[in-house]
Amino acid sequence: MAELLTAKGVTRDFVIGDGSVVHALKGIDMSVAEGRLTILKGRSGSGKTTLINMLGALDRPTSGEVFFDGEDITKLSDAKRDEIRRYKMAFVFQSVALMSSMTAYENVDFGLRLAGFDEKKREERAKRCLEEVGLAKRMDHRPGELSGGEQQRVAIARALAHEPKIIFADEPTAELDSGTSHHIVELFKRLVLDEHMTIVMTTHDVSLLEIADRVYTLEDGEIVD
Ligand SMILES: Nc1ncnc2c1ncn2[C@@H]1O[C@H](COP(=O)(O)OP(=O)(O)OP(=O)(O)O)[C@@H](O)[C@H]1O
Ligand SMILES: [Mg+2]
Repeated sequence: MAELLTAKGVTRDFVIGDGSVVHALKGIDMSVAEGRLTILKGRSGSGKTTLINMLGALDRPTSGEVFFDGEDITKLSDAKRDEIRRYKMAFVFQSVALMSSMTAYENVDFGLRLAGFDEKKREERAKRCLEEVGLAKRMDHRPGELSGGEQQRVAIARALAHEPKIIFADEPTAELDSGTSHHIVELFKRLVLDEHMTIVMTTHDVSLLEIADRVYTLEDGEIVD
């Protein structure tokens, strides 16, 4: 099983207002296999978001390395990291950040426009990805005309549209009821099984764990499995 992402000895210290230091990550070693669903679980404050930010090049470790696709991304310039994030990675967050004045279709199209796709490709991909997440009949709805789970599915369609190598999802189900959460996680599972997508997701919800290929448990900045 090929590893797409590997963290080696990753630490992250935050210096807060009074000058004291929070050791949010204390030497994390973990890896994410290509074409698999990996879950990071742990209590609030255990370091899940901090870790996902390191893996997704949204933040840099204080020490340690993160290898993505064979390359240590912690050593790259900001510009190079931006490029990797834009073209190879996608992010889905707890609160769905859709443009409220745009329809589902326009939201997905907008992401593709930013990534520089021409009109024909945008139309083809936006439609395919919205169908993929089960929203073929809701493409012309604005976020306010969609349920919470449907909105999160639009965000997932948008994440998929530029065909990333990996999707990072930080508590993507936290604002959804448990039934809807299950649908979102089933969708992730299907993307992994059918599309060979690689997904890293954080969650508090222990009922979602059974669906993961691999679970890492964080406690106070350390992996405790
Ligand atoms: N920018 C920051 N400055 C200072 N401390 C921070 C910062 N970001 C996170 N922390 C601290 O680092 C620790 C880990 O935070 P993190 O957000 O990674 O937790 P989490 O596991 O994602 O929690 P939750 O489940 O509540 O989202 C916490 O103690 C938090 O207070
Ligand atoms: Mg968090």
